[in-house]
Amino acid sequence: MRMFNTVAALAIPFIPRALVRKISRRYIAGASLDDAIERVQILNASGFSATLDVLGETVSSADEADAMAGEYMKVLDAIQAHSLNAEISIKPSALGLLVDEAECERRVRDILEAAGADKNFACIDMEDVRCTQREIELFARVEADHANVGLALQAYLKRTYEDIEYLLRKKCTMRICKGIYVEDQVHLVERARNDRAAINAHFINHVSRCFKTGAFVGIATHDAGLIDELISLVRRECVDRTKFEFQMLLGVCEPLRDKLLAMGFNVRIYVPYGKDWYGYSTRRIKENPSIAGHVIKAMFTRE
Ligand code: FDA
Repeated sequence: MRMFNTVAALAIPFIPRALVRKISRRYIAGASLDDAIERVQILNASGFSATLDVLGETVSSADEADAMAGEYMKVLDAIQAHSLNAEISIKPSALGLLVDEAECERRVRDILEAAGADKNFACIDMEDVRCTQREIELFARVEADHANVGLALQAYLKRTYEDIEYLLRKKCTMRICKGIYVEDQVHLVERARNDRAAINAHFINHVSRCFKTGAFVGIATHDAGLIDELISLVRRECVDRTKFEFQMLLGVCEPLRDKLLAMGFNVRIYVPYGKDWYGYSTRRIKENPSIAGHVIKAMFTRE
C-alpha cells in the first residue's frame, strides 16, 4: 500500500483538476468569502476558533498584492459583521514581499491597522527559506507598532533556535509548526528531510521555551505522538490553558482535533478559501500520500 501511495503522489500532476477539486472540498472552505464565513460559523458552533487564510502565494505584481490586501480587508469586515471567533493568517509573499519589500510592509501595516480597530489579530505565516530572514525582519518592524501580530516559526529549520530568542524576549505570540516547504538539508535539523518524526524533539524544545517565558504559543501539528508528549509537558509544568492553543488545518485529522476540544483545550482551525485552490490542494495531497491513494481510487468512483 505504501508503494502504491508513493506512486500515487508522483502521479498528482496527471490527476484531472476536477478530481483535485473534489478532494479539495475537505481542505478548503470554498472559492468565496461567503463559503469561508459559513464554514467558520459551523466550526465556531462546535467550539473551535478559526484563522482565515486567503489562498494565494508569491505574487509578481503590485496589482496582485493590492488585490490580496483588499481581500483581507473584506475578511476583517466579515469577521466583525458576523461576530466570528476568527483571526487571520497572512503570507507576505502574497502581499508582495518578493516584489517590493517596502510596499509589502505598507500592506501588512494597513491590514494590522484594520484588524486592530476591530481588536482582531493576524499571524504571519512563515514561508520558504528565501523569505525567512525578510519575514522575521518585517515582523520585528511591524510588531514594534502593532501588538496584534504573531509569527509562525518552523521547527525543521536549524536557525529557529536563534530566531526564537528575539520573540521570546519580547513575549511575542508565536505559532510553532514543523514546516511544509521542501528545503535543502543544509537549512534543516538533522534527518528532517526524510523523517518528519526527527523534527519532534526540536518542536518540543521550542514550545517548552514558550511555556517557560509565558509567550503565547499556537501548537500547529496533527502528529498524535507529538501532541501526547506536549500534553504531558503541559501537565508536568502546570501550564495555564490560556497560554497556548492547538492549531490544525481544516479537514485534517478531525477525530484528533475533536478529542483535544473534548479534553478542554483551545483548538483553532486554519481555514483556507479562495480561487487559488489547486496549489494548496496538491500540497496537502503530496504531504499525505495516503490521500493520493484515495485520489487515485476516487478517479474510478462516481461523485
Ligand atoms: P507530520 O507531517 O509528521 O504529520 C503527522 C501526521 O499528521 C501524519 O502522519 C498524518 O497522519 C497527519 N497529517 C499531516 N498532514 C496531513 C494531511 N494533509 N492530511 C491528512 N493527514 C495529515 N507550515 C509552514 O511552513 N509555515 C506555516 O506558517 C504553517 N502554518 C501552519 C498552520 C497550521 C494551523 C498548521 C496545522 C500547519 C501549518 N503549517 C505551516 C504546516 C506544517 O508545517 C506541517 O507541514 C503540517 O502541519 C504537517 O505536519 P505535522 O506537524 O502535522 O506532522
